[in-house]
Amino acid sequence: MESKVYGVVLAGGSGRRLGGEEPKQFQLIGGRPILIRTLEVFLKVPALDKILLVTPADWIRHTEDLILQYLGEQEQILLVAGGKDRSDSLLKAIEALDALGLLLPETILVTHDAVRPFVTVGMIKAGTDLACKGTPAMTVIPATDTIICSLDGEKIQEVPDRSTMYQMQTPQTFNALDYLKCYEGLSADEKALITDASGVFMRAGVPVGMVSGAKTNIKITYPEDLVIAEQFCRMQA
Ligand code: CTP
Repeated sequence: MESKVYGVVLAGGSGRRLGGEEPKQFQLIGGRPILIRTLEVFLKVPALDKILLVTPADWIRHTEDLILQYLGEQEQILLVAGGKDRSDSLLKAIEALDALGLLLPETILVTHDAVRPFVTVGMIKAGTDLACKGTPAMTVIPATDTIICSLDGEKIQEVPDRSTMYQMQTPQTFNALDYLKCYEGLSADEKALITDASGVFMRAGVPVGMVSGAKTNIKITYPEDLVIAEQFCRMQA
């Protein structure tokens, strides 16, 4: 059975930690909106049948205007209204695929934070290759800082060996129906705790694979990340 691969670009957040007049995914870096830069990378991947772009419901019109302005007519991009948190936004994208009759056993999703505009075609391809062989694929980089574990925020419980520690990035690429099955098997408490697909698969006991990200694949979260992003844009230009 040949896989059908869809991009799911998650841009449904509010960007409170960054601040500003509009959610961070719409703010400019190197003169272009962050989510447009992310979409430009996804549009370069021929394997993607469609790209679902999830934005807050109130921002859909604005997003349509931006796409027209920067990318022209794009039939490949479908806009979806986001949910209350990131995993809810992913569920909305899956529901949209279902409504189109595209949620099938061979459906693979390349899920990605819109606010990681320095993703590369190579990262998307590496995750897709692994997921199409049946293993959920998470993009990671080796931890450069020592990670410590503290349960109370005051005392250190554990200092894990740094050589076994990684930082999670996106894309996260996996079979859509497998994800739904694992997600639906979680308790309400577990659902409230999970922040990304790796947690969903791990809790269900499904082996999860890693593919290489990059230090440049930053998530724009705080104002200082914008400064770094501007610099990366200059390096790309
Ligand atoms: N996201 C989403 N739907 C939500 C919340 C987040 O699609 N309801 C997306 C964001 O747009 C972003 C990614 O998930 O591309 C990571 O979100 P994050 O930056 O952690 O959250 P934000 O809500 O965007 O920012 P903040 O937590 O600072 O308010």
